[in-house]
Amino acid sequence: MSHHDPARMPAGAPARPAPPSTASPTSPGTSPSPQASVDPSVDPSVDRSRDLVARDLVMTYGRTRTAGPPALGGVDVTVPAGTSLAVMGPSGSGKTTLLHVLAGILRPTGGQVQWRGRDIARMSDRERTKLRREDFGFVFQQGMLLPELPAVENVALPLMLGRVGRAEATARAAALFAPLGLSGLEKRRPGELSGGQAQRVAIARALVARPGVVFADEPTGALDQTTSAEVMAHLTQLAAHTGASLVVVTHDENVARWCTGVVHVRDGRIAGHGVPQPTGAPAPTVPRTATVTR
Ligand SMILES: Nc1ncnc2c1ncn2[C@@H]1O[C@H](COP(=O)(O)OP(=O)(O)O)[C@@H](O)[C@H]1O
Ligand SMILES: [Mg+2]
Repeated sequence: MSHHDPARMPAGAPARPAPPSTASPTSPGTSPSPQASVDPSVDPSVDRSRDLVARDLVMTYGRTRTAGPPALGGVDVTVPAGTSLAVMGPSGSGKTTLLHVLAGILRPTGGQVQWRGRDIARMSDRERTKLRREDFGFVFQQGMLLPELPAVENVALPLMLGRVGRAEATARAAALFAPLGLSGLEKRRPGELSGGQAQRVAIARALVARPGVVFADEPTGALDQTTSAEVMAHLTQLAAHTGASLVVVTHDENVARWCTGVVHVRDGRIAGHGVPQPTGAPAPTVPRTATVTR
């Protein structure tokens, strides 16, 4: 893992998202997100093996594989290295299932998930556990922070699980607090933080070990619109700075707008994809999603 100097990270959140790139989330050959150029030491375009590529994903829960429609009915999705993808769709459409399959939490019934030259769907449980710990980061709707641990130790935890010594882990964790606007809150327990602060701590924890991909399932689901925008600003900025790709499940258009690409899921299938409008842009007068015929 390359050493990261958090002091170089720009402080604070941008006033609005970076303009979306024209990269389609399904076109691995297109240029990376403009956000990804923040850190000159990270150039995702040179290493296509850092694309996350899913092909023909099928997921059927339970033993009765013929009963009812599958949760995923043949999904293709590509997350080019260094880009961010919003996964939108109504409740029950399969967003969380897709996220869990992409992240190696669930093994799909069929299809492939290619990551760094390997198929996650074919890995053993043990290999997937290692992958999730070393290559991926996670942000959930409620921070899922350990209530007994101070914020800084919650952030340091993934490093310590990865066998980084306590002193170094704590120092690297603490270095993320200022750029996330969390200075002075290092010793607070999660119960002493606001919802937005807790989610920013969760973002630090997800990114502290420099993962290749961060998966976020409704990361702003419990927040108001203003706090939600702050959290997305920090999440997208920190991911871009560290070169991490981002997959964000949300049903909120305002959250999706922070991402460089969006896919819409309906009944376990990709119903369309497009480029989200930046916040503050005039409302589109034509539908931005194209229907995919497959
Ligand atoms: N563990 C599970 N066991 C059985 N069915 C499930 C399970 N998780 C999700 N489902 C079903 O799969 C479909 C997709 O669910 P989910 O991926 O959670 O959708 P979303 O995140 O879009 O709300 C739903 O019909 C849901 O009931
Ligand atoms: Mg869900």
